[in-house]
Amino acid sequence: MIPDNIFTSCLTPTDSSLVPRIEEILQANLGDNEFLATSSLDLDEYVRLGHCEIMLKNQPHPISVADWGGEDADYLVASYEQAVWEVRWRGIKLHVLKTSWATSCGMDSRFWVIGETSAVVTDFILDLHRKTNTPGESILVFHGGHWQRSRELYLATQKASFDDLILSGSLQDAIRNDFQHFLNARPRYESLGVAWRRGALFIGPPGNGKTHCVRALVKELQIPSLYVQSLTHSYFTSEDLLKSVFHRARQLRPCVLIFEDLDALVTEANRSFFLNQLDGFEKNVGLIVLATTNHPERIDPAILNRPSRFDRKYHFNLPELIERTAYLGLWQVRLAAETGWVKSQAEQLAIRTDGFSFAYLKELVVSSLLRWIHQSGSKFFQVLEDQCAELRQQMLTTPMLETSMGAETADLSD
Ligand SMILES: Nc1ncnc2c1ncn2[C@@H]1O[C@H](COP(=O)(O)OP(=O)(O)OP(=O)(O)O)[C@@H](O)[C@H]1O
Ligand SMILES: [Mg+2]
Repeated sequence: MIPDNIFTSCLTPTDSSLVPRIEEILQANLGDNEFLATSSLDLDEYVRLGHCEIMLKNQPHPISVADWGGEDADYLVASYEQAVWEVRWRGIKLHVLKTSWATSCGMDSRFWVIGETSAVVTDFILDLHRKTNTPGESILVFHGGHWQRSRELYLATQKASFDDLILSGSLQDAIRNDFQHFLNARPRYESLGVAWRRGALFIGPPGNGKTHCVRALVKELQIPSLYVQSLTHSYFTSEDLLKSVFHRARQLRPCVLIFEDLDALVTEANRSFFLNQLDGFEKNVGLIVLATTNHPERIDPAILNRPSRFDRKYHFNLPELIERTAYLGLWQVRLAAETGWVKSQAEQLAIRTDGFSFAYLKELVVSSLLRWIHQSGSKFFQVLEDQCAELRQQMLTTPMLETSMGAETADLSD
């Protein structure tokens, strides 16, 4: 017979006494050593970055949990709820003690760093926070009210290139020069007494390269990048969230702060606060704000039209014949040997695809290729022509701006 109250006893938190108890024990037993408590410490990342070495102590027995990484990451992610590590840092020995406990909002943890002097302990914690919180080879993503480092997103930007981006006229040069020039021109801005900051808005219908261009810029500029994915939270207001966003961005200047689909992020409720943050003259020195939208009509004129907010607007329109020819030409060169697709056919197809976005053109080639692989004996150009007619029909029945095929990517992270 199991007593009724045993499980209640197991699960009733007595944790309110945990932290003071640990501190009392440390105070009483550490001799000349000093310690400092901190509520977060990404020790694993600090090790991964090569700044220290750690050894997990077997006594007391470390408690670890293995949680599922989720639908997108189907593996177990191990973490320690309770453990002690010996740390070797800059030739100095330290100890880190971690414990966790359940609260009504989930798990909470605390870390105690123990070292010979309080200066060493403080320097270690400060350096660890600085190194593990700057983006480095990742992008800081703001979602759910806090920042997270995303290495995946960083790697996605590193794959993007201006080489495979076809833009009309001198648009590509204008964008690249604009930002490179800006980054190199700080002394000039200062001698002229103007704030060294920049804002640009990429405007255009889905699937014409706004996100691709943002990625390629992030790769090219090589400064920290911060990406705002959402400005909603069950507890914090969007003003609170915007405050956190700009606060962090200002700490990392010079840096790029990205708002994809600005029209969805800036609403009536947070608009004036957003404007206020954008206007901060001194506070925004070194800040590049990059925003994209395919609904400029939904953006308040105060944001759209005041040059001090977005200095430049770049338009990513549907490709004209010359751009369609260039884009299909790239594919034709890539596929010619395998498919027998010749240059003059690519040019014909460019004429027939008036009104297609780049994303539609890409869909046309890729879906034709898949169809052609499965239809042995068929001519690739014939498949392209059939597919072109089908896609045009689809475009007529699905409004261009709302179709999900307008762009392959919904945001920077996909
Ligand atoms: N100008 C272009 N040159 C070459 N490829 C392009 C161009 N525009 C879009 N593409 C390709 O089409 C796909 C979708 O483009 P992208 O995500 O950049 O569109 P977008 O303008 O950001 O659309 P949305 O407004 O829906 O976010 C990508 O694979 C991209 O490489
Ligand atoms: Mg996009």
